[in-house]
Amino acid sequence: MSDAPADPALRAAYRLCRRRTRIEDPAEYALIQLVPAPLRPALHALWAAANALDDLGDDRTAPAAERAARVEAWIAALHRELPTGTSPDPIRHALVDTAGRWRLDLSDLRDAMAQVRDDTEGRRFADWAEWRAWGRENLLPWFAQVRAILDRAGVPVALRLDTRESYEEFLDGVRLTDILTDLSADLAQGDLLLPAEALARHPGSAEDLARLRWSPTVSALVTDLTGLARRWVGQETFTRGMHPGPATVLHTMAALLRAQLDAVDAAGPALLRTRPRPPLRTRARILAPARTRAALAWSLTPLTLPPSRPPGAPQPVPAPTRPAGAPVFRRPPPHPSGERPPAIPAARLPTHVAVIMDGNGRWAQQRGLPRYEGHRAGAAAVREVVHGALEMGLRHLTLYTFSTENWQRDTEEVDAILGLLRDEVTDNPFRDLDVHMRWHGRAGRLPPDLADLLHLRERTTRGRTGLTLTMCIDYGGRDEITRTAAALARRARAGQLDPDRITDEDFARHLPHPDMPDVDLLWRTGNEQRTSNFLPWHAAYAELHFTPDLWPDTDRRHLWQAVTAYTHRQRRLGAESPNPLSL
Ligand code: IPE
Ligand code: IPE
Ligand code: MG
Repeated sequence: MSDAPADPALRAAYRLCRRRTRIEDPAEYALIQLVPAPLRPALHALWAAANALDDLGDDRTAPAAERAARVEAWIAALHRELPTGTSPDPIRHALVDTAGRWRLDLSDLRDAMAQVRDDTEGRRFADWAEWRAWGRENLLPWFAQVRAILDRAGVPVALRLDTRESYEEFLDGVRLTDILTDLSADLAQGDLLLPAEALARHPGSAEDLARLRWSPTVSALVTDLTGLARRWVGQETFTRGMHPGPATVLHTMAALLRAQLDAVDAAGPALLRTRPRPPLRTRARILAPARTRAALAWSLTPLTLPPSRPPGAPQPVPAPTRPAGAPVFRRPPPHPSGERPPAIPAARLPTHVAVIMDGNGRWAQQRGLPRYEGHRAGAAAVREVVHGALEMGLRHLTLYTFSTENWQRDTEEVDAILGLLRDEVTDNPFRDLDVHMRWHGRAGRLPPDLADLLHLRERTTRGRTGLTLTMCIDYGGRDEITRTAAALARRARAGQLDPDRITDEDFARHLPHPDMPDVDLLWRTGNEQRTSNFLPWHAAYAELHFTPDLWPDTDRRHLWQAVTAYTHRQRRLGAESPNPLSL
């Protein structure tokens, strides 16, 4: 590697990661060989780290509690070491170096890592839904890191809206193939990582497996499951339109998985004693042409590589004001015009700006485009405005994204809006920025995968203290107030609250987000002068600002203008004498 790190310890760390991947996961190693050499060390580091952590959680020489403690200590050490760029543990050393070089946000892995700790007690799944949630929580974030590396290298692996489910199902197939392959090792430890729902379709199979008895019912179960896994890994539609480099890797991965499933099917009773492997010639038949295809595919795009740290250069350290262990955040990219935010002292900035982002449909109509395109352009404006909010140091920005009334639109438009949202949240454009993302709205009506993603972003950005960005999705002010009233009623019924003494403060404490501050500035684009059921409680005293521009035409400078206009308002808040903000 031409830009191999100069630090011998780091070089040795990457070598160890490569060796571990090659020995413990030859198929994975072969796949990584299909990506250009400069990207491989980062991928070896990720895979070695995932395997090292799994091994810690799985090491049956120690009791469960001790294994959990070891996993926990490993994760804690990683978080301590990330800002220093180094670690005494070689695998973590390679991982923190990779994270620094490629600007990866490893906090997205926090839940996947915590799952390894929680799995030390053993896992049981009632149904496929539970199994899938578990598998995806573990695998998706690691694959997201690989996608982030490719992204930074200038080969974005964007997933089309209509193919996300097939991508996630592909990963379900990866997981199921792994479980079937490792069946003997898991059974030897008393584990069975298959949902009860699947076992119930083959009565007696769970008992036979527990006794390591190869019976007709176990055989039928295995055939059933390999068939399912084959279907999941077989639909590679999500690679359509993808750069041929990653697409080749994914097709090869699918072929290797199918070969692995053939080996599982062919193993028969031996499946309960050993790990089946496809014949070497089968692997060679898949890999040899893949190497040629991959070499050609990658030659089409020059890669952008991050600079390697010069020898002896100081390791990145967190800004001094941050507590030890806190991540270092990127600054938002400046506006293309070079314009800077107005210099407004923090004390005069509104604490909370809420925006009704209106006009997407009209923007599209004006251009003869489907409404979907307006929403798509609107998503770009969101990124812009968030960058502007960060630049000017706002603390709270709340965006009206989808209202409880918006379900009344055509199913096609609703699906398009929710799909775009899913894409945005998956893409995670604020991953490197000091943005804490939150979701405000009704639970239970959004597609569950979108709700999961929103929760994931909320959890993984919880520690961020810069801007709190609240996305109001399936939000309605009346719904919020009704739910709050219900919560108060429940407290009163339980005798914990006297209905005759309920105060504003009591009400505010029972709101779904009791810590959300009052809105200081409510801004609506799109030339309408109404608030459309947005934050009625919080915006009771908000300064209102209506602008004619349609949301997709909005950029951060409009936010700056809105905030500047706000600083010239006189807020009386019901008092007799003016309380000018400009004082
Ligand atoms: C706002 O734009 C976005 C959402 C409500 C989701 P609209 O879609 O309401 O755009 P117009 O008002 O029809 O132009
Ligand atoms: C308000 O816009 C809701 C969002 C911006 C999400 P609408 O376009 O739905 O509001 P009305 O129907 O014009 O009041
Ligand atoms: Mg509208």
